[in-house]
Amino acid sequence: MDKNFWGKLEKPIYALAPMAGVADSAFRQICKSFGADVVYSEMASATALSYAPKKTLEMLKSSKKEAPYVIQLFGSKPEHFAHAVKLLTNKKQISNFQIPNYQLPSGFDINFGCSVKKVQKQGAGAILMSNLKLSKEIIKTAIDNTDLPVSIKIRSKAGQVGALKFLDSISSLDIAAVMIHGRTLDQGSAGEVDFKVIKKARGCFGGIILANGGVMSAEDARNLLDKTGADGVGIARGALGRPWIFSEVKSYKVCKVKSNRDIFKIALRHAKLAEKLKGDVGIREMRKHLCWYTQGMPGASKLRRELIKVESLKDIKTLLK
Ligand SMILES: Cc1cc2nc3c(=O)[nH]c(=O)nc-3n(C[C@H](O)[C@H](O)[C@H](O)COP(=O)(O)O)c2cc1C
Repeated sequence: MDKNFWGKLEKPIYALAPMAGVADSAFRQICKSFGADVVYSEMASATALSYAPKKTLEMLKSSKKEAPYVIQLFGSKPEHFAHAVKLLTNKKQISNFQIPNYQLPSGFDINFGCSVKKVQKQGAGAILMSNLKLSKEIIKTAIDNTDLPVSIKIRSKAGQVGALKFLDSISSLDIAAVMIHGRTLDQGSAGEVDFKVIKKARGCFGGIILANGGVMSAEDARNLLDKTGADGVGIARGALGRPWIFSEVKSYKVCKVKSNRDIFKIALRHAKLAEKLKGDVGIREMRKHLCWYTQGMPGASKLRRELIKVESLKDIKTLLK
């Protein structure tokens, strides 16, 4: 059976980009409910999965509703990727760690884009992109150890290595998709997105290309697709407090203003899901989402001072009412 879901998705593809500390199962389900075509996990350490996997396995749990769901891995040791992809597709082995209701992912993604110092210190994330030989070995190892599609997420440039040189160096590998964040490692997450490099990537990569960077509205998504000719876009910050951005980009509506009442309803649905999946931790993690949901509302700063202290679903309901 062909397990490459990427080729079956209707284009343009709208993906929830990976976001550590944000894109957990509750948030992914909310984005999916608004039409995200594919959702990425928070990045997970291939090394942690090789040595002490329980906590990471808990973090990566998903619901059937999220499919297609891609688990993103970071690391710098090929053998850790081999171990991680094998473990994450072995329900029997996972049951030994008491992870009930574990769902298999639809694919794996390898992180070559993260600029966080802690990750780079391990030789992983964007810094890895500048080591072509090791990058290739890691991708090949992941592909060789799973029958699920493997995708990668890269930057327009890291160190001396640009996206095109990187893609050229791995052209012999069967990579299903690439998400290109059109900013260099030096740029971090601000500044202009390089449309040209994403457009040129078509010349050296045969799989699905997702353009990423700066999509905050339907208009931005259209612009990014037009300028890059990509097969889809990855949306990260544009979905924070605005998961309905996926329905906006899909309907090409420039600005579909939601009433505060509608937004509160969505926030509450999100909070209920977060509590169901993670209990009190889920509620505490909701605090930042609640601040994003209420951004720009009249009187929001006063409301936010309360929202950052919520301890229960009841607190949230009272405040949002
Ligand atoms: C809170 C947060 C966490 C992120 N975590 C990851 C991650 O785990 N893996 C990754 O490849 N990129 C991560 N990113 C980068 C995003 O996936 C994306 O490439 C970047 O934010 C640019 O897209 P945007 O302009 O739509 O936000 C993260 C970004 C944010 C804001």
